[in-house]
This record gives sequence, C-alpha cells and structure tokens, in this order.
Amino acid sequence: MFAVQADGCEVTTVESLGSINKLHPLQQAFWEEHGLQCGFCTPGMLMVAIELLSKNPNPTEDEIREAISGNLCRCTGYQNIVKSIASAAKKMRAVTEAAA
Ligand code: FES
Repeated sequence: MFAVQADGCEVTTVESLGSINKLHPLQQAFWEEHGLQCGFCTPGMLMVAIELLSKNPNPTEDEIREAISGNLCRCTGYQNIVKSIASAAKKMRAVTEAAA
C-alpha cells in the first residue's frame, strides 16, 4: 500500500516485536528454524505471521502458506519460514496456556 493510504492508521513495524537481548518468540523461532537467509523478506514475513497468529494461534501449514502468500522470498524456498511460524505458534500457545 502507499504510505498515504495508511494516513490515520496505527502502523506496527518489526522493530516493535523484541530486542536483541529479548527476542520475541516469533523471532526466536525464525532463528532456531533457519527461517531466513539474506533477511530481506524477513520483516514482512514476521509481521504477516504476527497478524496470523493473533487471529489464529494454531494455524495449519496451509493456513500459514496462505498467510505468507503475498510476501516473496528469493532465498529460502519457504519451507523453513513455514516451520518457523508453526514453531512460534507452538511457543506462543505454551506461554498463553501457562499464564491461564
Ligand atoms: S531470506 Fe532472502 S528474500 Fe527471504
């Protein structure tokens, strides 16, 4: 979208997820599952995944692939990105369940 189309909207960027000393579970999962290579697509993948997991904490592989279908990755072949998001979903559900 063009920036002007976001006028008046709240914009959340990848910088809001975690820090170098305390990665967000999604960032940790990308690290552990090798969900990136050059990293060019990674901010977009992370933000799409956050949106998906906020609405669907237990997505199927097909749902993950559908969610990221608008983001292109020239490096990974997507397999490890999908694995990373599935792993993050599991980690985030465990945190939610432990807090309940
Ligand atoms: S990791 Fe290089 S474009 Fe996705």
